[in-house]
Amino acid sequence: MIFNKSSALVFRYFNVNQVIMINEYTKSDCSEILHVVNDAAARYKNAIPDDCWKEPYMSERELLDEFRDRVRMFGYMHDNKLIAVMGFQEIMDVVLIRHAYTLTAYQGKGTGSALLEYLFDKYQDSRLLVGTWRDAKWAIRFYEKFGFVLHEKKESTLLLERYWNIPPKQIEHSVVLEKHR
Ligand SMILES: CC(C)(COP(=O)(O)OP(=O)(O)OC[C@H]1O[C@@H](n2cnc3c(N)ncnc32)[C@H](O)[C@@H]1OP(=O)(O)O)[C@@H](O)C(=O)NCCC(=O)NCCS
Repeated sequence: MIFNKSSALVFRYFNVNQVIMINEYTKSDCSEILHVVNDAAARYKNAIPDDCWKEPYMSERELLDEFRDRVRMFGYMHDNKLIAVMGFQEIMDVVLIRHAYTLTAYQGKGTGSALLEYLFDKYQDSRLLVGTWRDAKWAIRFYEKFGFVLHEKKESTLLLERYWNIPPKQIEHSVVLEKHR
């Protein structure tokens, strides 16, 4: 299969052999998920504050905690290899997009878009929020392309404190975007 942006969108959930490309991943897939997260997170190095960066960016313990907090991880398979992940967390009256990562070598080829569209299909009537680093301009652009609107700093902080369980330092340097439906 030729892998490019249009093929990823046309065959959004199935490739030409009808093998499902987007699937839910569980605790037993931790090492594959972490491989994607920690490779893609290299984009943050030197972009976010030094004291917010660590290597690996996400540990197995942290990922297991996310599963415990009912984050559901979905992944995109290409040539039998997990190349992108996106987590969704239903919390109170909203759905949060958590941990969206595409392997560095596959970024910009439509995979993240395919996962996001999968989310839109799955949570059609939900209020969708996504938090990201304020300095991750590429990620903000990515969500804005899909109609997400950036909240002001004050509202972002309120939302991060209400719906996320992240350190104060991360709240200080993050923003929230919301999809108006
Ligand atoms: C943000 C991310 C998940 C998007 O996934 P992706 O598979 O690259 O997404 P797509 O290929 O569908 O790209 C869609 C848009 O995202 C933007 N984008 C994606 N990757 C980019 C990159 N490496 N550099 C600049 N822009 C990029 C572009 O605006 C692109 O728009 P285009 O279609 O006009 O080119 C992925 O780039 C990534 O893992 N980045 C590093 C980690 C990160 O920032 N995660 C977001 C956490 S909220």
